[in-house]
Amino acid sequence: MSTSEKSKKTRVQFATRLGVIATTVGSAVGLGNIWRFPYEAGTHGGGAFMLCYIFFIFIIGVPVICAEFLMGRGTRSNIFGAYRKLAPKGKWFYAGYMGILASILILSFYSVVAGWTLEYFVQSVSGSLDLASMEEYHARFDEFSTGNWRPVLWTLIFLTLNFLILVRGVTKGIERMSNILMPVLFVILLIFCINSLTLPGAGEGLRFLFHPDFSKIDSGVMLGAMGQAFFSLSLGLGCMTTYASYFSDSTRLAKSAVITASLDTAVAFLAGIVIFPAVFTFGFSPAAGPTLVFEVLPSIFHSLPLGAVWSSLFFFLLLLASLTSTISMSEISIAFFVEEKKMSRRSATVLNTGLAAVFGVLCALSFGCLGDFKLFGLTVFNLFDYVSSNILLPIGGMITSIFVGWFVDRRFVRDQLTDFGSFRLKMLGVIVFCLRYVAPVCILLVFLNSIGLIQL
Ligand code: PFF
Repeated sequence: MSTSEKSKKTRVQFATRLGVIATTVGSAVGLGNIWRFPYEAGTHGGGAFMLCYIFFIFIIGVPVICAEFLMGRGTRSNIFGAYRKLAPKGKWFYAGYMGILASILILSFYSVVAGWTLEYFVQSVSGSLDLASMEEYHARFDEFSTGNWRPVLWTLIFLTLNFLILVRGVTKGIERMSNILMPVLFVILLIFCINSLTLPGAGEGLRFLFHPDFSKIDSGVMLGAMGQAFFSLSLGLGCMTTYASYFSDSTRLAKSAVITASLDTAVAFLAGIVIFPAVFTFGFSPAAGPTLVFEVLPSIFHSLPLGAVWSSLFFFLLLLASLTSTISMSEISIAFFVEEKKMSRRSATVLNTGLAAVFGVLCALSFGCLGDFKLFGLTVFNLFDYVSSNILLPIGGMITSIFVGWFVDRRFVRDQLTDFGSFRLKMLGVIVFCLRYVAPVCILLVFLNSIGLIQL
C-alpha cells in the first residue's frame, strides 16, 4: 500500500464539498474580521489601509492559500509532515515550529477577545448592556476589561469550550456547526449594514473606509495590512495545510482558495460598513484600537428596536465564529503532537489548552494589573498580537511560497491544482508566478520598509 493510500485509510476526511468550504471559511471568518479588521483599519487611516489590504488578500493571500492547500492535501499530513514528505533531506520543516508558536500565541490573545464576547453575550441576555450614551459604553468596557478576574474567568471558560469540542475529533462538531453558522452570521451582518447606512454619520464613515488617502500609505499601514490579511485568512502557520489534509481528492483547491478569500473579505468589509458609520455618528474615535468594536457595537444595538435581542444573537454568533477559528488554530499543534510526537489526542488537546490558558491569562491581565508591564513598548496582549500577525505569519507565508514555488516538484503542484490534469486551470501559471516572485518579494519589501532599510 502506498503512503498516500495508507494515510487515506487512517485519516478522517470532510464529508461534503460544502463542508470543505464551510470549514475553511469557518476558520478564516472570526474575530479577525469583526473585531480586528475594523480596529486595524481604524488605526491605519481607513481607505489607505483598505487598498493595501485588498492587494495582500488577492495577490499574495490567494496563491499562498493554494500553496498551503496543495501541501496538505498532497501529503495528507500536518505542516511538519508535509515539509518532510516533500523535502525529506531539507530543513524546511523548521518552519513548522514557527507555525506552532504562532498558533499558540494567537490562541492566547484570541481567547481573551472571545472571552469579552462571552461577557457581552451574557450582559446582552440579562439586559444590562442597554446604556444611555457613548461615554457609558466606553466606561462599561473599561471597567470590565481592567477588572482582572472577570476577563480571566471568561478566557478560561472559552478555552474550556474550545477544549470540549476538540476532544470530540475533527469533522463532526466543526462541520455541522459551521454549515449552519456562517450563512446566518452573514445575513445578520447584512441587516446591520442596512441599519448603519441610514445613520447620519454614514457618509463620513464610508468615506473614511473607502476613500484612500494615498499620502497615508506608510510602512506601518503596509505592515498592518499585510499582517491583517494573513491573520484573517488563517495563513502562514500551517492551518490551511492541516485542514487541507482532510480534504477529499476531488476538492478543487484553487477554486476553494478564491471562494474562501472572497467570503472572508466580504465579511470584513460588511463589518467595516457596520462599524464606521456608527463610529462617526456616535462620536467614537476610529483609532481607538482593540476596544473599538466592543464599544461601538453595543451603541448600535441600543439604537435598534429590540436591541437586546439583536445584541444577544450577534454576540452568540460571534462566539461560534470564534470557536470555529480557535478550533482550526488548535488543530495545528494537536495534529503535530499526535502525528509527530505520538501523543494521544486527549493529551495533545490538554497541552494545547494548558499553554494557551497560561499565556491567555497574561494577555487578559494586560488590560488590568499587568497594564504597565511592557516589552518593546507593548503590553503582553499587543506584543502577542503584533509578533504573530505582523511577523511570524508573513514569514511563514514567505517560506511557504518560496518552498512551493521553487523547491516542490512542478508536476506535484500541477497535479494537485488540476486534480491530476482532469481539468484545465487557467490561473495555474499566475499562481505559480505569484508564489515564485510576487509573494516573496512583496513580503520582503514590506519587512525591509518597516525596519527602515528601504523606503517604498
Ligand atoms: N482567521 C481567523 C480570524 O480571522 O478570526 C483567525 C485565525 C484562525 C488565525 C486560525 C490563524 C489561524 F490559524
